[in-house]
Amino acid sequence: MSFIIAIDGPAASGKGTIARALARHYGFHHLDTGLLYRATGARGGDPVRAARALTPEDLDRDDLRSAEAGQAASRIAAIPEVRAALVDFQHRFAAQEPGAVLDGRDIGTVICPDAQVKLYVTASDQVRAARRAAELGADPAEVLAQLRERDRRDSERATAPLKPSPDAVILDTSTLSIGDAIAAAMAEVERLLPR
Ligand code: DC
Repeated sequence: MSFIIAIDGPAASGKGTIARALARHYGFHHLDTGLLYRATGARGGDPVRAARALTPEDLDRDDLRSAEAGQAASRIAAIPEVRAALVDFQHRFAAQEPGAVLDGRDIGTVICPDAQVKLYVTASDQVRAARRAAELGADPAEVLAQLRERDRRDSERATAPLKPSPDAVILDTSTLSIGDAIAAAMAEVERLLPR
């Protein structure tokens, strides 16, 4: 059985950076599941059909990182049939040996409820907006408003809303450097990795 690390949290919490670092350190496969929703939105047309027709090549598009692609992803992610169409791909990815790190909103709660490690990575709204604004070269106030809108939609939807799994370890990165956040996540994995 492969070892699964599930990392959930709101936008710009640092979960992607932590997921990539853990995957590199342990030699595990990494899937940024937000890309599935971003690529589905970017395909345009009927979102359910787009989700069913998604190919791995769709995840390589350069325009998926924009704020617009994030908003579009968040909107179509509220459609239960879109989510259902993306489950198999995530399950197959998670089953890869020797292990996999998946980051998103519903990994520990819905996609991989039996993951050996579950982290819920968060940070204050202001800190997350400042980080994302620096990354995109955008206005922090505008980014803050967009993040709040997206978090509200992702948390309030009926199907697989953003919320910590009851058995997840909460990691608040508001006052942590990237290095310290990665170290804290790694300590949690070390505690649970079979020896
Ligand atoms: O992680 P991200 O910012 O790339 O995600 C973009 C949107 O996709 C996010 O606002 C909600 C949706 N999403 C989701 O519903 N479930 C996931 N596991 C990952 C992302």
